[in-house]
Amino acid sequence: MSDDVLKTKNNYRWISLHISNIEPDIELPAPIYFFINGKFIEFKQKGDILPSEKYEQLILRKLPYFFIAANSIDVFDQWIEKIRINNLESIAVNAGLENKELITLKQVIKGHIARVFSGDMSDKAISSVTWETRSFVKIIGESPVADVSFVKMSESSRNIVEHSVNVAILSVYLAHHLGYKQLKILESIFLGGLFHDIGKTTLDVQYYEEHNLDVLKQKLKEHPIIGRQALQSNIQIGEEVLRIIEEHHEHNDGSGYPYEKRGAQLYDLSKLVSIADAFDNYVKNCPGNLTEKSLFAIQQLEKDNGNIFDPQKLLKAIRALRLGIK
Ligand SMILES: [Fe+2]
Ligand SMILES: [Fe+2]
Repeated sequence: MSDDVLKTKNNYRWISLHISNIEPDIELPAPIYFFINGKFIEFKQKGDILPSEKYEQLILRKLPYFFIAANSIDVFDQWIEKIRINNLESIAVNAGLENKELITLKQVIKGHIARVFSGDMSDKAISSVTWETRSFVKIIGESPVADVSFVKMSESSRNIVEHSVNVAILSVYLAHHLGYKQLKILESIFLGGLFHDIGKTTLDVQYYEEHNLDVLKQKLKEHPIIGRQALQSNIQIGEEVLRIIEEHHEHNDGSGYPYEKRGAQLYDLSKLVSIADAFDNYVKNCPGNLTEKSLFAIQQLEKDNGNIFDPQKLLKAIRALRLGIK
């Protein structure tokens, strides 16, 4: 948690808390405040939740810092630790504790991505992501294919941070099953998955104001281009990753965007990320448990007849997805 301490006139101490420390949809252990026009305004009371939708809005609108009263820091620390352990335990029920390292890394990556998406595009923030990606991918790359199952590490995504992490894990899982073994390739596809929608987060915050919905829709169509631009000057992000970001909404038949490229013009890894992206979106929009949601998503993918996805890649991906939900 942040150590930034602010003292007000009456010597009351406040501590800033970044949104990456807050788990949406879980009751808060103490009130959280915004600092507006020189005043601390209570935003949520003890026992309230920060809904996922609101969590995403705050990230997109670049409002990631809250304050808590200094005397509630212990209770927040315990809350964060308890959530960390609960997450580990609940995933371990499906995954087994042998996947503890991957699950822990996934949680760490989620925190780093929340920071980047909420406006910290510094080299340090990006290298935190690339560093943990390397560790994650190394474990996947060195495991026998049969031992890696995305479902063991997945949960249904509730916001852009979880969606991005899910797409990264799914994409690297598909690449691994389809025979991509080089760590560098696996790293690129993982980073491409993490950052594929970063263009949505670097849009000017004014577009997220309610009265701008029509303009927002139009602007969102540009997110693959905006996303590439946001990362292209960063030396830690290679051209492979930039192509994935730029091409993840292109379709096999040329009906996608932004450039209406056709299958043969598309980078292989972009094709896999676009399958993973669609899969996670179908999962998100289906009721039921994760297996039921995943089966529904597979059925939806199977309906494609070469319009959106590369048919050969889709066939192999579906086979891998079926194995992954067992
Ligand atoms: Fe997208
Ligand atoms: Fe996406």
